[in-house]
Amino acid sequence: MTPIKVGLLGLGTVGAGTFNVLRRNQEEIMRRAGRAIEITMIAVRNVERARALVGDACEVVGDPALVVNNPNIDIVVELIGGVDLTKALVLTAIANGKHVVTANKALVAIHGNEIFKAAQDKGVMVAFEAAVAGGIPIIKSLREGLSANRIEWIAGIINGTTNFILTEMRDKGLDFATVLKQAQELGYAESDPTFDIEGVDAAHKATIMAAIAFGIPMQFDKAHIEGISQLQAIDIAYAEQLGYRIKLLGITKRTAKGIELRVHPTLIPGTRLIANVEGAMNAVLVQGDAVGASMYYGKGAGAEPTASSVIADLVDVTRLATADPEHRVPYLAFQPNAINQEVILPMSEITTSYYLRIRVADQAGVLADVTRIMADLSISIDAMLQKEPAEGEVQTDIIMLTHQTQEKNVLEAIRNIEQLSSVFGPVVKIRLEQLS
Ligand code: HSE
Repeated sequence: MTPIKVGLLGLGTVGAGTFNVLRRNQEEIMRRAGRAIEITMIAVRNVERARALVGDACEVVGDPALVVNNPNIDIVVELIGGVDLTKALVLTAIANGKHVVTANKALVAIHGNEIFKAAQDKGVMVAFEAAVAGGIPIIKSLREGLSANRIEWIAGIINGTTNFILTEMRDKGLDFATVLKQAQELGYAESDPTFDIEGVDAAHKATIMAAIAFGIPMQFDKAHIEGISQLQAIDIAYAEQLGYRIKLLGITKRTAKGIELRVHPTLIPGTRLIANVEGAMNAVLVQGDAVGASMYYGKGAGAEPTASSVIADLVDVTRLATADPEHRVPYLAFQPNAINQEVILPMSEITTSYYLRIRVADQAGVLADVTRIMADLSISIDAMLQKEPAEGEVQTDIIMLTHQTQEKNVLEAIRNIEQLSSVFGPVVKIRLEQLS
């Protein structure tokens, strides 16, 4: 069979990784795909640099429109990033009848519904394994491996930058700003780390997983997003003393009232396997009604781990390129006419447990006042920690872990607690998940 022709948009870290792995493993990949996969055209900003990297193996151009409009290209691989230009390019590629492979989580989470609709109308594939958790085949697992299950919830460490920072904060007792600076110096964090540290990157990925786990449209605008920039080292230490670790989790859960979709720092029991996922590694824990819990672990970023997912998509698309579109795996795992418009719950309606740190005067009756407020809102306390005040101090921290309750109850309790004259400063609230 003739080789399938690929046009690459972007030759940065992942693009170069894809080019190299495809070249290195071409024989093995061809044995799997049934025909050769050839990159014939690459669009990049710096044409000279790209030519030096790829040699004469393929045509290098500066204008991505030349790739998406090239009639000889079968698959466009989008590795540019960003959402505006890429959306236009991807839609043009689809309109021209090309299949698309992308690693762009923001594009899929924000414009996925429109892109999939266009692709379905045109009968082409859009594959996005590399958009979630880099080299971990989590999309394939959710879409195909777990298709017997009613998925109940997913909790993932899906951002390596923040997991690296949290690991360092815990191991070395350092504060967030110090570790972020070190992470930037080591190349673990971008010079503008906002998307990573504020949870946006993880929310893109959680949005995609929610869509394919529950058969709902992409609803990134409804995701609750909280990052780690406000997290204090003292809370990591207190959590540790209570047997918990703090991780930035992307969580999506099916409940009787609707779907929870949230990213925030979360206490999880230190004994859980996922609590021990350290450094820049990623892991996704999926609870299905038939399989129970299953966990997927690996590198969430990097040239070749991400290329591994991009090329797996290329192999899938190559195998199915000549198949009847009806016989392909649906974009969102569920048939397009079976996608449900389920509600994403507002945060006030979610149910979980909480870690609360309350700075109080060390005097009689304070604890009684606090627990009365909690009891009035039916919030049950699961564990508590109070230290002696430090030498010469008259204030101390009370740490409470609650049983499951609604977020709106906790917010009201916090408002009331903060009004007590014996309570100083804002109450620190971090959500807690048992993941059992
Ligand atoms: N910036 C991401 C991370 C990798 O830190 O995990 C790409 O999504």
